[in-house]
Amino acid sequence: MLKASDFYTCKKIVMAATLDNRCPTKEHSSSMTSPKQISGFSRLDKAARRTWLADHFLASGQVGEFLRFDAEDAELQEVIDNFSENTVANFPLPFGVAPNFVVNGTTYAVPMVIEESSVVAAASAAAKYWMTRGGFRAEVVAAEKLGQLHFRWGGKPERRAALLPQLCTRVRAQTSTLTERMEARGGGVRNITWKHLPEVSEDCYQLLVSFGTADSMGANFINTVLEAYGRELEAWAADCPELSADERKLEVIMAILSNHTPNCIVRAWVSCPIAEMAIPIGGVDPEAFARRFKYAVDIARADTYRAVTHNKGIMNGVDAVVLATGNDFRAIEAAAHAFAARDGQYRSLSQCRIDNGTFHFELTLPLALGTVGGLTKLHPLARVALDILGRPGADELMCVMAAAGLAQNFAALRSLVTTGIQKGHMKMHLQNILSSLDATPGERSRTAERFCGETVSHHGVREYLTELRK
Ligand code: MEV
Repeated sequence: MLKASDFYTCKKIVMAATLDNRCPTKEHSSSMTSPKQISGFSRLDKAARRTWLADHFLASGQVGEFLRFDAEDAELQEVIDNFSENTVANFPLPFGVAPNFVVNGTTYAVPMVIEESSVVAAASAAAKYWMTRGGFRAEVVAAEKLGQLHFRWGGKPERRAALLPQLCTRVRAQTSTLTERMEARGGGVRNITWKHLPEVSEDCYQLLVSFGTADSMGANFINTVLEAYGRELEAWAADCPELSADERKLEVIMAILSNHTPNCIVRAWVSCPIAEMAIPIGGVDPEAFARRFKYAVDIARADTYRAVTHNKGIMNGVDAVVLATGNDFRAIEAAAHAFAARDGQYRSLSQCRIDNGTFHFELTLPLALGTVGGLTKLHPLARVALDILGRPGADELMCVMAAAGLAQNFAALRSLVTTGIQKGHMKMHLQNILSSLDATPGERSRTAERFCGETVSHHGVREYLTELRK
């Protein structure tokens, strides 16, 4: 149970931290034990940060690499610098496009930002394949986001039911100015439940709040509302006349959205008669292909080692669109994997079935994302990506992203159960090796001919090019 002294200790900790933050340089400079340690790095300008790095961590000339990636446009550079902290350089990734994605009857060119070779090519190939077989279908199953307010409370758990309605009315009324604009867009606070977490401690409680956030990802909105709820919860404990002395003991621990979004779900699927599943790989019988494909998905449903790799392939497609559209790939990843383990075992996010000679393949996953606000608005290329997609709302983007994940999964499994993955990879791998060796177009085509159907290694290609260049 809470004691008055607990609250005092907590306040002292907060004060100590506040004082410490006021003068970090003075506090810490005397404790620096190595020239590689620094206080106040964030206050250096970019040139000084680079110089400091060059002096302490880099070989001479390496800082020049940073310069090569600076944007010529100073305004653009400032936009990029402001996304993060302590920036010393830009780190470009390729922005590709997978055309021919038919999703719910609309044709999209899907923007994909990814560093792994073969992913965009595989998505494009799968999109083209399904384009002539009805395309992808997708639907948003639910679009609810969650936030949590954790607190210690001195009351009895059984009192929650009686107190919750008035608590809800109060916190909602006090935060209405924060929520009214979101409500006008069709979002807002949907529901509040009051949970007891005795496994943490007898006095540990949580308000679990569900939100609609319309077309925004909603992280700022959710966190702002939750923090306001926290303040109001404390005020309620202090002045609600119905509370006993024990029930007045309340300490808010933290308020933050949950990235577990099992109620923000999209489902995408493809389906067609097996007889129409001509596989563009010589000698592959559609019946055998469908059977082997389903077998591969079933393995990933049953076996966690395979499921993780299988889902990684799905996320190759999903994350690439998440990045291109300025969404938060860490949040999407965390949610997807928690969802994959929702029955206690980590399983494939996709499923396959064969009914009466028809092949069905589908993917269900949580995608909490936005098409307005945040990086979607700030990053010039995220804006372009959303323009390429026709400025979708969040629901439409969920459908396109899920289709990209399913396409990727289809392409990976198609290779795995037919030629094996290395054939396609090796082609791309060869191109990467040739780039790293500055091969000319002529050298590229001769090397491709030479290594056609053979195992590619960096060493082998280098030796061949050396011979060629003599
Ligand atoms: C590689 O990035 C992804 C795959 O391993 C996915 C899979 O095995 O399903 C090819």
